Amino acid sequence: MGLPGGGKSTVGRQLARRLGARFLDADIVLEERIGMPIRAYFEQHGEVAFRDLEEQVIDELTREGGEPLVLATGGGSVLRPANRACLHERTTVIYLRSTPEELYRRLRHDTQRPLLQVADPLAKLRELYEQRHPLYDEVAHYRVDTGRPSVSTLVNMIMMQMDMAGLLPAMGHDAAVSPDPAP
Ligand code: S3P
Repeated sequence: MGLPGGGKSTVGRQLARRLGARFLDADIVLEERIGMPIRAYFEQHGEVAFRDLEEQVIDELTREGGEPLVLATGGGSVLRPANRACLHERTTVIYLRSTPEELYRRLRHDTQRPLLQVADPLAKLRELYEQRHPLYDEVAHYRVDTGRPSVSTLVNMIMMQMDMAGLLPAMGHDAAVSPDPAP
């Protein structure tokens, strides 16, 4: 988890590949369900309706018994206490921590994220950081700074933290923590 633009989907997809796990992006699952882009759904039904659906999808996707899964969650999912409890208790949460300035560089031309379609997106990102950073930090089991490292370095950093915590053997990683990720 982490703020929008921090690389959750890209890092998550590569982490899943390295772990031999399935990857799902909760936003994409949601878009398939509502049959329209999130931005359009926000405009037509409002943020509360979106958050209700998001909570439902996160609850479903984190139920036990499924195959190993890496799940990327929308940046705002941390706002609901039910999501925070569910993610912290049922999953291993990795917080991709990014500064508002770094995110602004990546997202200044974004047209898809409803919360950033404002006159001053940098101010909005700073506000989101102030509000959400403590929540991400509270829910996370592991944290990595996204600043300079490449995606594969970030994935290595995450895997090393998980390996040190003894989480990888159960996921069948064998030689997964190698300096050279699979292409
Ligand atoms: C949101 C982030 C988006 C998406 C929705 C709301 C938010 O996901 O869920 O637009 O509140 O920060 P990403 O973090 O993947 O952009």
